[in-house]
This record gives sequence, structure tokens and C-alpha cells, in this order.
Amino acid sequence: MRLLSLEVENYRNIASASLTPGRELTVICGNNGQGKTNLLEAIWLLTGGKSFRGGKDAELVRRGEPFAVLKASTLRAQQEEQEKEEPNRVRLTVGAPDSPRPGRTVSVNGGAVKRAASLAGSFPAVVFDPGHLSLVKGAPEGRRKFLDAALCQLYPGYLTLYRRYVRALQQKNALLRRSSNGIERPYAEKRALLEVLNVELAQQGEAIQQRRRAYLAALSPLACANYEELSRGAETLSLRYAAQFEPGGLVQLLRQKMPEELRAGQSLCGPHREDLDLLLDGQPAKVYASQGQQRSVVLSLKMAEAAAAASITGEHPVMLLDDVLSELDDGRKQYLLTRMREKQTFVTSCDDTAFLKTDGEVYRMNGGVLTKV
Ligand SMILES: Nc1ncnc2c1ncn2[C@@H]1O[C@H](COP(=O)(O)OP(=O)(O)O)[C@@H](O)[C@H]1O
Ligand SMILES: [Mg+2]
Repeated sequence: MRLLSLEVENYRNIASASLTPGRELTVICGNNGQGKTNLLEAIWLLTGGKSFRGGKDAELVRRGEPFAVLKASTLRAQQEEQEKEEPNRVRLTVGAPDSPRPGRTVSVNGGAVKRAASLAGSFPAVVFDPGHLSLVKGAPEGRRKFLDAALCQLYPGYLTLYRRYVRALQQKNALLRRSSNGIERPYAEKRALLEVLNVELAQQGEAIQQRRRAYLAALSPLACANYEELSRGAETLSLRYAAQFEPGGLVQLLRQKMPEELRAGQSLCGPHREDLDLLLDGQPAKVYASQGQQRSVVLSLKMAEAAAAASITGEHPVMLLDDVLSELDDGRKQYLLTRMREKQTFVTSCDDTAFLKTDGEVYRMNGGVLTKV
């Protein structure tokens, strides 16, 4: 996947900017608070997803303006091979809440205006944002999200599966909660209802775990190899799916845990309680990893996510790496700067010196004004 050009208008602090990225590496440097992350976020919106920073649509429009406009020209690997194919022209608009057309809308090649979410799958990208460091130290939910988000991007059916599971889980939790709130259904009736929901949960839950395991089997060797190279063998990363049940065992587990769940007033088992263990030399990274090691773990995972997507879909995602170089030693920086050359990659940094050697495109962002260096 390749971004050929991007024009930005009234996006956050960027009044107007024009970017012609390199085939491989593009560096955006500048001091803090100048708009570097804003520019990466604008590129990310072309995936059809919401802001990776969790920014609401209203916050994306430059203060005092009715809407932001992004005009991009993109090319899929397939199009690139068949040289005569025209690039896609994407026009994405973010309307402020009080504008005639609020929210994110898009039109491709001058076609009908649709919701931006309709872009899903047409511009794959992987983003590294310093907030992702919580993947290592944070709660299991973040790690499950990492797996589930990747699976949703790769297999449209996964989202349906996941939603079915969550719907049944919500019903189950509501039923279990009522029992502790004292509005009691007859015990036998409640058990019967729970059993019905557990059948559904077991079916969807097994499928979810199975997809996660299969994805991890593809991801693991890639992530470990990345880490090995990044740390030049200093330590070994391994990934382990922290399962509550072996394949086929969820029905049994749900049956066994029912009395406990009734007492606890909430569901206690299933893939929504599982985790992904990240280990460095066999020890939990959560407990022992230094800042630099955490960063290296997350980077290895993110690069593996992109490589896995490339091998499954044939399209290598665009890499968006925000503030990726801080806290890495020179060896790790050097490795990344060479690795990043392979695919189209955007990197932001407040340190210009790291990039003096690069043959990529270098831009400077200053107060929302983008200039080519
Ligand atoms: N909707 C908006 N309108 C105007 N400025 C904004 C808007 N949203 C964010 N900003 C400004 O963008 C700047 C932060 O840009 P950012 O890309 O995070 O900086 P950095 O270069 O450090 O990555 C802040 O000065 C912030 O006030
Ligand atoms: Mg930033």
C-alpha cells in the first residue's frame, strides 16, 4: 500500500499542508506540540478508522472552521504491478458538529459520498503510538484488543462473531447481576436461561479463541525475529496465549463455573477473560521490562502485525510510527532506520540528528506549517 500524496486543510492545527511522501521512509521532525502526530493521525483516517488517539471527530477540525478536508492519492500493490492503473483519489471530510454535514464522510474517485467507515480495508495501515506502550504494562484488555483489532481487519467475519459473543455475554451478565440485586427469577428458570446462553457463548467463544490462537501462531515467529534483530540478541521475546481452556473445553468450563458465577454475580470465564503473555527470556515483560525494552516489544509486535497482514492479504500496510525512536539505544535506532526502508513508513521525531543519514524524504513541522527539508 502506498500513499502518493496528501493535502490537508483545516485539520487540527494544520491550516494547509501538502505532503509528497517517499516510496519508503518519510520523516517528519519538529519540536513538541507542532503538529507531527496530527499529520500521522490524518493519514490514519484514510483507513476508515477513528483517530488512534481516541480524538472525537469534532476535535479533528481546526478550531473556528466548519470542516477539515483531506485529499489523498493512494495506490495498492496490485495497481502498482499493473502499471497503467490509475491511483485512487480519496477525499475525506470531517464536519464540525454544527456544520451541514457533521462527522467523517468520504468520496473515492469522485463517486458518491459515503461514511468514512466504508474505506475499511482499502488503505491498510499499522500505527505505533506511544500510548501503545500500555500493551506491555497495562491490563489484559489492551492485549486482547490488539489481537481482536488485527483479526477484524483481516477477516470481516470475525467482527460478526465477536459481536455475537459480546451480545450473549451482556445478556448473561445482566442475568447474573439481577441475581445479586435481589430481583430474583426462580432459581431453576435462571439456571435454564444461563444454560441456553452458555451454549451460545461456548460456540462463539471457541471460535474466537481458535482464531486468536491461529493468528498468534502466525504472529509469534515474526515478532520474535523482529525482537531478536532489534535487540541484537540481547534477550528473547516469546508470546504465549494465556488460555482458560483447551480447544473444545469451554462447554465444560462454563458448566463447572456456573455456581461460582451465580455467587459472583458476573461471568468469570471465556475468551473475554484470557490474555496474551509477553515474555522476555521467559520472564513476564509486564513486571521486568525497562522502558526501552517495552518499546522494543511493542515495536516488534507492530512490525509483526504488518508483516502478518502482508502475507495474509498480499498488501503490506503503511507504517505510521509516532515518536518511535526515543528511549532506544543507538543500535536499536540504527536497526529501525534500516528496517523502515523496506516499506512505506512515516516516522515522527523531535530529534533531527537521527535522520541526517537517511535517504528518505524529510519534512519539518512547525506550528502546523509543513516544509520540505
Ligand atoms: N482542533 C484543533 N484546532 C487547532 N489546534 C489544535 C486542534 N487540535 C489540536 N490542536 C493543536 O495541535 C497541537 C498538538 O499537535 P501534535 O501533533 O500533537 O504535536 P506533536 O508535534 O508534538 O506531535 C497542539 O498545539 C494543539 O493545541
Ligand atoms: Mg506527537
